Amino acid sequence: MSRIAVVPGSFDPVTLGHLDVIERSARIFDQIHVLVVHNPGKTALLPISQRVSLIQESIDEAGIKGDILVTSWSVGLLVDYATDVGASVLVKGIRSQVDVAYETPMAIVNRNLAGVETIFMLPDPAHAHVSSSLVRQVASLGGDVAPYVPKAVANYLEKARA
Ligand code: PNS
Repeated sequence: MSRIAVVPGSFDPVTLGHLDVIERSARIFDQIHVLVVHNPGKTALLPISQRVSLIQESIDEAGIKGDILVTSWSVGLLVDYATDVGASVLVKGIRSQVDVAYETPMAIVNRNLAGVETIFMLPDPAHAHVSSSLVRQVASLGGDVAPYVPKAVANYLEKARA
């Protein structure tokens, strides 16, 4: 039986920290679905379709190997998507205790809803301070986000600013 995992998130935009978690997950699982999900608690910068394209470009650019599908989900529960594609695991990157506190209730609810387990993955500490919200803020104020995001994202944000 193949081991399938979903790596969900807002990815608004995808960062080097996300890419690290995607790469590590792709090494562990037979197939991963990188799933862009709208988070109603956050004000979006990029349209969902653009986030999907930027993730795909970033994976290609970084030469990340594996069976990786990048797509989005906007109808119903995240665990419905996971169940539909035969995934029993969600992978979430954890940078700090703050992330643990934010992710733990969702992990418990997702397990209760559908028996879908959540694995917390520690990314490279080099990316521990990087978040999409920080990138959005720096970009909106005209700062350089190149150290925090894949080239495809830096180029996109640069063009969007021009
Ligand atoms: O990158 P983010 O914003 O931290 O990702 C959070 C996300 C989108 C993965 C989370 O909000 C989510 O799982 N949304 C799906 C809605 C859902 O299934 N909710 C019920 C169980 S928590």
